[in-house]
Amino acid sequence: MGRQLTLSIFRYNPNIPGDQPRMQDYKLEEHEGMTLFVALNKIREEQDPSLMFDFVCRAAICGSCAMMINGRPRLACKTMTRTLPSRFTVMPLPVFKLIGDLSVDTGTWFRNLQIRTEAWIHTNKKFDPNELEVRMDNKVAEAIYEPERCIECGCCVAACVTANIREDFLGATGINRVARFMLDPRDERSDAEYFEVVGNEDGAFGCVGIMACADICPMEIPLQQNLAYVRRKMAKAGLKLDLKGFKVS
Ligand code: SF4
Ligand code: FES
Repeated sequence: MGRQLTLSIFRYNPNIPGDQPRMQDYKLEEHEGMTLFVALNKIREEQDPSLMFDFVCRAAICGSCAMMINGRPRLACKTMTRTLPSRFTVMPLPVFKLIGDLSVDTGTWFRNLQIRTEAWIHTNKKFDPNELEVRMDNKVAEAIYEPERCIECGCCVAACVTANIREDFLGATGINRVARFMLDPRDERSDAEYFEVVGNEDGAFGCVGIMACADICPMEIPLQQNLAYVRRKMAKAGLKLDLKGFKVS
């Protein structure tokens, strides 16, 4: 017989007039290989169909099941209950808009991030469908692939001190996104152009260096390294702009 688990889960539906935020306890028996995803589904199927939470892939690919599990942002489908005490808390990610209970709207946040960082290849080259594919050096392709692995789960944003107090902060995932395009030789943006996007307190210079993002990222993306890369480039660009007599804020 497995352990008796008690999940203390945040409940609040902002769409129900008069509903109040509260913690609600649910008990269930743990079984071998149980993930939090399985536990929450069991609760919804057998005890409380009104419980709201998000899942799509169940395989740490879609990023939709991130939540605060005993105080840490983690993916529910990747979290084995045996790694948790028999009583633990489950809460929604902070920073993002609450939809209800454990469900938050990360989509709008990430869409705004893509728009802000202009997360597409900027080039003046005309597309020719008959042209042969341009080969890319393996090392460059591998370097681009690292930041590309982000599944937009939002764990790094939820863990970030700055993002929790400043809503305009790009966060580690935004800086990671910028690093991805800086590394790509097809993107013709100059450092001065990137400086406009990320060379400020809401971007690469807003991080206070606690680096919880790097500890928490379920994909183990080298967020610290990417931040250092973007910061170095932006510090140099800032210096150049300053020397040219531009005002650098
Ligand atoms: Fe999630 Fe890591 Fe991407 Fe942040 S960088 S959104 S923690 S996958
Ligand atoms: Fe897709 Fe967990 S359900 S990452």
